Amino acid sequence: MWRKLALIIAVVSAVVAFASKIEIFSWWTAGGEAEGLQELFNIYSKLYPGVEIINATVAGGAGAQAKAVLKTRMLGGDPPDTFQVHAGHELIDTWVKTGFMEPITFLYKEEGWDKVMPKGILDIVSYNGEYWSVPVNIHRANVLWYNKKIFEKYGLKPPKTFEEFFQVAEILKSHGIIPLALGTKDGWEAAHAFETVLIGKLGAEGYKGLWNGKTKWSDPRVTDALETFAKMLQYVNSDHAARTWDEACALIVEGKAAMNIMGDWAVGYFYAKNFYDFGWVLAPGNEGIFDALSDSFGLPKGAKNRENVINFLRVLGSKEGQLAFNIKKGSIPARTDIDRNLFPEYQRSAMEDWLKHEIVPSVMHGAAASESWVTEFKDVISLFVARPDVKTTQRALVNIAIAQGVPQQ
Ligand code: GAL
Repeated sequence: MWRKLALIIAVVSAVVAFASKIEIFSWWTAGGEAEGLQELFNIYSKLYPGVEIINATVAGGAGAQAKAVLKTRMLGGDPPDTFQVHAGHELIDTWVKTGFMEPITFLYKEEGWDKVMPKGILDIVSYNGEYWSVPVNIHRANVLWYNKKIFEKYGLKPPKTFEEFFQVAEILKSHGIIPLALGTKDGWEAAHAFETVLIGKLGAEGYKGLWNGKTKWSDPRVTDALETFAKMLQYVNSDHAARTWDEACALIVEGKAAMNIMGDWAVGYFYAKNFYDFGWVLAPGNEGIFDALSDSFGLPKGAKNRENVINFLRVLGSKEGQLAFNIKKGSIPARTDIDRNLFPEYQRSAMEDWLKHEIVPSVMHGAAASESWVTEFKDVISLFVARPDVKTTQRALVNIAIAQGVPQQ
């Protein structure tokens, strides 16, 4: 009897030890995010039913907490099997140049991804002639979302310029509606909104120049952006410090706030809450500009379940994976060969804009500058919310650029 039991225990533990796993690390826990991720898991589990998925999420929009946890694990020699990382500087500067990743060019060749993804996207997952991650989507950062019912009720038109924004905001305020929903709890959301104000004031070229020295941070248009942003902050909910990005979106859903400037993961949130009474225009002054970022996953050196990761990456880059994921997530596929008509209205419009608008890289979401610059930018703007001192803030922004080796003379 005891021998039999011992044998059973031995067999069970052997099965447990050899059971195949994959640990997938991300910060996708909010409405829309979790649903999108689940779609990818569903496809993967159908193809590889024997593999246990460990959903290693660390909550906090834009990776506010996840990135620090990831850093500790990577530096400590305990990488997750695969992890969410923004294509562009975040991927290349933080993880590729430092030698933490394996190239996956072989996968691009096998799957033909280099033929179905646009050059602009292929470029930001490339370094030294190799590909380093698989982009699962393209998100747009510069959108103004609004509650249609509120706008109809007061006969308002969604604002396209800053002037219109302030006119509409005044009217909303006079009716006791919060004009602009904001959550600043995770420390990045204000910087996200400010990024769109910079674009609105500097235009595509001027904004891009901030990250390579062609535009100086002392530029009077940056002063204007800060002054305008300070004015916008007078129209936000007073409890913003207690809300995350999705809790700010909730104010739109509940009809307490009328507008919100957020990336199009907000659409994923609205869908997840079964809220369809939202409309969208571009953030003020952003006409014709697509502020872009892309979520991607790669293969860290030392991944414990390498083969399983490779198969998961195949799912991420597949037509089926990109379709199912992006419908829920609010983003559009990185692949260009997926039928637009399969998507909801918002994504169809984003897919059209992606082809005709001028594309600029999002700073807050890792595409425009190195992570250290992003962190400092985010912190300075966070402080600005608490203490909107234009002069000090602009000087700080100049000094950060200098510290990043980008001359300001
Ligand atoms: C971004 C990310 C998006 C979305 C958002 C909020 O950085 O690229 O996928 O999840 O954060 O968490």
